[in-house]
Amino acid sequence: MSWSRALVFSALIAVSCSAEDLSFPPGFKFGAATAAYQIEGAWNVSDKGENIWDRFVHEDPTRIRNQENGDVACDSYNQVERDIEIAAELGLDYYRFSLSWSRILPTGFPNKISEDGTSYYNKLIDGLLAKGIQPFITLYHWDLPQSLQDLGGWTNPLIADWFSDYARVVFTLFGDRVKMWLTLNEPIVICDLSYNSARLAPGVYSPHVGSYICNKNVLLAHAKAWRIYDEEFKPKYHGKVSLANQLIWFEGKTEADAELAELTIQNMAGRYSHPIYSKEGGWPPGIEKILEENSLKRGFPRSMFPSFTQEEKEFIRGTYDFYAMNHYTSRYIRPAKEGETFRIWPLGDAEDLNAKIEVHPDWPTTASMWFFVNPEGIRKQLVWLKENYGDLEFMITENGLATFDGLDDTNRVEYYREYLKQVLVAIKEYGVNVTHYTAWTLIDNFEWVDGYHSKFGLYEIDFSDPKRTRTPRLSAHWYKKVIKAHSLDV
Ligand code: NOJ
Repeated sequence: MSWSRALVFSALIAVSCSAEDLSFPPGFKFGAATAAYQIEGAWNVSDKGENIWDRFVHEDPTRIRNQENGDVACDSYNQVERDIEIAAELGLDYYRFSLSWSRILPTGFPNKISEDGTSYYNKLIDGLLAKGIQPFITLYHWDLPQSLQDLGGWTNPLIADWFSDYARVVFTLFGDRVKMWLTLNEPIVICDLSYNSARLAPGVYSPHVGSYICNKNVLLAHAKAWRIYDEEFKPKYHGKVSLANQLIWFEGKTEADAELAELTIQNMAGRYSHPIYSKEGGWPPGIEKILEENSLKRGFPRSMFPSFTQEEKEFIRGTYDFYAMNHYTSRYIRPAKEGETFRIWPLGDAEDLNAKIEVHPDWPTTASMWFFVNPEGIRKQLVWLKENYGDLEFMITENGLATFDGLDDTNRVEYYREYLKQVLVAIKEYGVNVTHYTAWTLIDNFEWVDGYHSKFGLYEIDFSDPKRTRTPRLSAHWYKKVIKAHSLDV
């Protein structure tokens, strides 16, 4: 769908959205996000250890579009002052960024803490605070130290200890100044997308085995880190910790598929939410059984999907201070027909549910193969979360649009406006307690296998310039006005 049709489409949505008052509740916060591997560069500077993305892109450059990589990326390691300046120019309340585990712990373990790595993040944290911007840190955004991958990475149950040891170091180093934390970014990508396709680092293909084992280990790692903060740091620092889930909104293709859509949400969002946020804990109802049956059908002698002991369930349940959601897009779901095959990449299907995923023909496409524009999806997803897990504090930790545009990115302004409008409807008409909205992303950056091809930035980066000059797009000027006015009425 073209963007002219898209604009008509969004105008229709605007009419159907009855949020007259376009102002945000007092105390609502606006931010923007990035991630270490996508922006820092300096991949081998000082004593930084190699991570799985360094290895993945160097081992076989053809894995990435145009054989690009994050070796230099946005050079944020050297341009840290400019990044802080940009965050201040926009008037952000907070800046969400991730730490490179192997920049802080070059061996992956706390036997050695890098002074240079620590001082880089201190510079960033202190610089933000000096401008009145809160640092919001993600501990892990996909760049595992290669040393730990060599020991099995997220499929080794010991990773809960490795990760929580790293978390304790980080809380000790920065906890006096950082009050907002995410343990892991998008476990569904770390586990399911990675192991089911091998198209992301570490490039290990282990469908329905590696992915399932990883599912349990990421939750235990998150819970352990959360409990460390809760017991050792929260009493003195009073911060908040959660994990960020990537949630795609699913609807049945026909009314008859509504139950299947619900099961799909339970299988995708629920796998990383139910164990933490539901009252009873553990895997979402029904899912464990389906995955066990599938394991047997695939010829394994028993379920490859690991269950939790009662003790593990209790350990994971309740390990949150808010719900963090990354949301971009929606899908339709329908039962697979006889003989249909399943895709994992690039769009994915729900193979475990014997279901095919489709896209509505009216949803505008974007520069990213993954994302189709459906602003109502964000509201429906928020309402679903509230109905399923209760009246929690919700933070949107990522939302944004990929384009091929230059500075005049009216499409991006339109996308943000329509999604934010739906966030307002969720707050005002459905009583969902959304307190934070995070634009992805501050600056154009390395979009994983898509390299530098599609652009998500509020600021454009000139990647041919060694200094990686940053220039505000139309969307940056617009977002700044929204933040200042605390309203979409700008
Ligand atoms: C989710 C990921 O957290 C981020 O790294 C990625 O760049 C954006 N989505 C856009 O695809």
